[in-house]
Amino acid sequence: MRIGAHPPRPPVIVPATDDGRWHVGQTVRLRVTAKERVAQDVVALTLEHPDGARLPDWTPGAHVDLVLLDGLTRQYSLCGDRFDPFTYRVGVLREPGGRGGSAHVHDALRVGDEVGVGGPRNNFPLVPSRRYLFLAGGIGITPLLPMVHQAQLLGADWTLVYGGRTRASMAFLDELAGYGDRVHVVPQDERGLLDLPRWLGAPVPGTRVYCCGPGPLLDAVGVACATWPPHSLRTERFVAREQAAPARSTPFEVRLARSGATVTVAPDRTVLEAVRGAGVEVLSSCRQGTCGTCGTDVLEGLPDHRDSILDDAEREANDCMFVCVSRARSDRLVLDL
Ligand code: FES
Repeated sequence: MRIGAHPPRPPVIVPATDDGRWHVGQTVRLRVTAKERVAQDVVALTLEHPDGARLPDWTPGAHVDLVLLDGLTRQYSLCGDRFDPFTYRVGVLREPGGRGGSAHVHDALRVGDEVGVGGPRNNFPLVPSRRYLFLAGGIGITPLLPMVHQAQLLGADWTLVYGGRTRASMAFLDELAGYGDRVHVVPQDERGLLDLPRWLGAPVPGTRVYCCGPGPLLDAVGVACATWPPHSLRTERFVAREQAAPARSTPFEVRLARSGATVTVAPDRTVLEAVRGAGVEVLSSCRQGTCGTCGTDVLEGLPDHRDSILDDAEREANDCMFVCVSRARSDRLVLDL
């Protein structure tokens, strides 16, 4: 996977419209109105419009883009109250090996500062169900926190199993305490790793499993759910999944149905780069196949899906691809661009 062949292009910063709303793809400046340490190496930011305007609605599982240093864009799950139309809250883990985004949030960003915010966007929606099993690893609790609030509100039967290195490193335990024995807190230094055979060993028809956390946890949960009914498991990755070599090492053609252009995608270019080279703008953010910004409808041809978003059924449908990383199996693709 060619990631970051060029530094990310900073999103266009535009003012919010009069009513404080903005269109997906636009980025606005929001003010940090609170910054709170919610666990070891985790801070929660509260963001509001400088004019106090209403923010776009969102649903559990949604994320926003934060535009940090020099256009560096990072995605963070919204973990506040979805029924509060004036604030967003995100939780940010300090990542020592990262590219500086989380260090900037932890060390430099202050209450009163403004930050570019894009979205919200949801690749991890909570679908209706009578029963949910939520599995969180570390900072993976952030998209699941609004989900448990929603499940509780809807009267669903739900369980959250939340693992972390230590209790001190696990954010939002205080907010979860009110749910009693629906929440199983599993600090690794006290109780070891999550007991996946206990929770996933026997498929429970009618239960939706939502998991977010480090790659090894997601991989293990995927294996454990192999015998569950199709579509039982939904995951969200913060880091791109490891990919095998592309399906083909030869150029392929991409026809852009709406603009009428045809581009050739060489093995060392992404579809996104080739399309932009033809003067057709496609929104993008992570360029790793994790955020969903560059999702594009496929009208003809077979994509080589290389993202970390679609589940197996969605891949098999072949009607959408993420052009920052995904390529072609067929000689030609026709995209709705
Ligand atoms: S830009 Fe994030 S999935 Fe393509």
